[in-house]
Parts: sequence; C-alpha cells; structure tokens
Amino acid sequence: MTAIKIAVIPGDGIGKEVMQEALKVLNCLQEQHSSLQIETTIFPWSSDYYVQHGCMMPNDALATLQTYDAILFGAIGDARVPDDVTVWELIMPIRKHFQQYVNFRPIKSLPGIASPLANGKEIDFVIFRENAEGEYSDSGGRLYQQQPQEMTIQNTIMTRIGIEKIVHAACDYAKQHGKTKITSATKSNAIIHSMKFWDEHTSKTVKQSSPALQLESIYIDALVAYFVERPQNFEVVVASNLFGDILSDLGSAIVGGLGLSPSANLNPEKDFPSMFEPVHGSAPDIAGKGIANPIAQIWSLALLLGHQGRPDLEQLIVKAISAVLQEGVVKTADIGGQATTAQMGDAICQEIINRTLTAGGV
Ligand code: NAI
Ligand code: MG
Repeated sequence: MTAIKIAVIPGDGIGKEVMQEALKVLNCLQEQHSSLQIETTIFPWSSDYYVQHGCMMPNDALATLQTYDAILFGAIGDARVPDDVTVWELIMPIRKHFQQYVNFRPIKSLPGIASPLANGKEIDFVIFRENAEGEYSDSGGRLYQQQPQEMTIQNTIMTRIGIEKIVHAACDYAKQHGKTKITSATKSNAIIHSMKFWDEHTSKTVKQSSPALQLESIYIDALVAYFVERPQNFEVVVASNLFGDILSDLGSAIVGGLGLSPSANLNPEKDFPSMFEPVHGSAPDIAGKGIANPIAQIWSLALLLGHQGRPDLEQLIVKAISAVLQEGVVKTADIGGQATTAQMGDAICQEIINRTLTAGGV
C-alpha cells in the first residue's frame, strides 16, 4: 500500500498550536489503523521564516509541494509582517498555482454547542466559495501617489470557465448528497458587469448540470440577513471569492464559532494537491496561551483523509469530535470551557481509540 504524502505547514500563532493536535490525532489513527500509511513533512514557512529569509517560502516551494498528495495548513498572520505579504506570498500562490478553485466549507450544528441564534434549530449546509479568481486578484495599481489626484484601481477578474467550474462543483456535490437547491450569492443590481456575468453563467451551468436542481439567486446583503434569520433554508451555497469568504465566517459564527470550522481548498481534478485548513487565522489575541480550540484543524485533517480516499477515517474523526462535544466535559474557552488545546486533542484521540476498540479494530 502506498503512503499518503502530506506536506504540513503549521504557520504562525495558534496555527502551530492547533497543528500539534491534528498531528497527534494523525499519529493516533496510524497506531489504531494499520491500513493507514502516512508520510508527513513539516515545512517551517511562516512569518518567522520571513523574518529570517525575507520571503514567506523559498523559490522552489511550489515545486516541492507538488510532489505531495495533500497539504495540511495551519494559519498565518503576525504583527511583524504585513498581512497582505503573508497572504499573497504563501496562501494565495498555493491556492492559485494548484488551481484549488473550490473552497469547501461545511456549516453544521454540533451536539453540545449552542448557536448564538435565538431559534436554535439544526443548521446543515455547505458553502462553495470560488477560490482562484474574482475579487481576490492582484490586478490593479496606484497612480499619482502622494498627489491630490492620487487614485487606485482594484480589478475583479471573473472568467466563464472559472464560474462554470465552481458552480459545477456545487451542483455535483448537491446531486451526490441528495440536495435539490443551489443558492447563489450575487449583487448584480449594483455590480453590473462582473456580477451579471456571474448570474448568467451560474444560471446556465445549474440548468446544464441537472433539471432537478433549483437555483435561487439572492443579493448578498439580504443573504447575510437570511443566514441569521433562517439558516435552515440553505443546502448548497455558491459564491464568488469575496462573498464566499464573508459568508463562511458568518456561517462559522452561527454554528458556534471559528474554532469549530474546517475548510478544504480543492483541485477536484486532482491534477494538483489540495490544501486543508481551518477557516480561522493565527488569533494573535490568544496565541501562545495554549487555549485555542484545535477542532477546526482536526476536522480539516478529516476532510483531507476523506479526499484522499479514506471517508471511513473522516467519519471516525467527525464522530469523535461530536462525541467529545456532546459529553461536554472537555471544552476550550471559545465554547465556554477551560480545557487547553492539548486536552481537547487528547480527548478526541481517546474517543477515537474507544470507538476503534468497540468496533473491534478496522
Ligand atoms: P482570527 O481568525 O485569527 O481570529 C478572530 C477571533 O476568533 C479572535 O478573537 C480569535 O481569538 C478567535 N479564534 C480564532 N480561531 C480560534 C480558535 N481555534 N480557538 C479559539 N478562538 C479562536 O482572525 P483575525 O483576528 O481577523 O486575524 C488574525 C490574523 O490571522 C491576521 O494576521 C489575518 O491576516 C490572519 N488570517 C489568516 C488566515 C489564514 O491563515 N488562512 C485566515 C484569516 C485571518
Ligand atoms: Mg476568511
């Protein structure tokens, strides 16, 4: 059996702390399941690396990463390096070069976690965020700097192929999971070029994908309100890069916060490695204290294993997380407890061991 090769980039701040727990879970899985062969390599690319070398990662980093099956990423962001440098020298090149055009973010109620929403009904939907183009482009610039007439242009780039690919991915997921409704985030009443183009090609693609799928297009300002007022109505949400980014933090918040929210940056064709990372950043306000919630990172590892052909282990991790939360004894501060990052990682490992023993080993 060939091993799954994982490139591990812990990054900055709590990224390093939560990654330790994901690796602990991975070790535990390997001890329990002899069928799981994993090779990990840890890469120190981060703000520390930038301070030492003047760049976030070496010139040949993408070529190196391309030899791996998947990338497990922590988080980046550090006061010593401007945020646009950390993002555009590390995350963006990986997402764009490896054509990870799907950013997949499940938004799901968890047992033992109260939603801040008053009606407390079960929430279960997914967001497909376009991840390679759109509003997050480096096309633009400044003119007449420091003069009264100084100006800037920041271009949004939307391509027909880019829209078709993300919408197809959302439709394929819907069909595979028995969902019938696709919700598209738009603003074509005000952003009349790019968003009208988005609407047009979204509509064509959904129709082409399946006559059984129903498409609703909702203006982003109304959609954020609906996320709060009636999140139960959504099944599969598809959005451009910026809208999807904002919607996914809001989605995280309504099911209990950033500490619980995983994501996958997918290249569905598997031409390149995909990257799995929590939705959250490096959380400088709590970094170094050992109190960050590692669940988003551990769940991201679960998504990675599912993508690499081990949905059984993905399910096992998600069930172990749910069981620990339902029991409610070990909780980190963000979800109302006092447990440390390491204690949460230990509790999830213990649950994995218990479940494996009960199942008689796999
Ligand atoms: P953030 O996600 O780091 O933190 C927002 C809030 O959520 C903070 O109060 C933080 O303590 C809390 N939080 C986040 N993750 C948590 C966890 N696992 N457990 C408990 N609490 C958690 O976002 P913020 O503050 O906007 O950005 C901080 C830095 O992270 C910036 O430098 C930003 O550029 C970077 N960032 C990096 C991302 C990435 O690596 N993909 C994504 C988002 C932000
Ligand atoms: Mg974000």
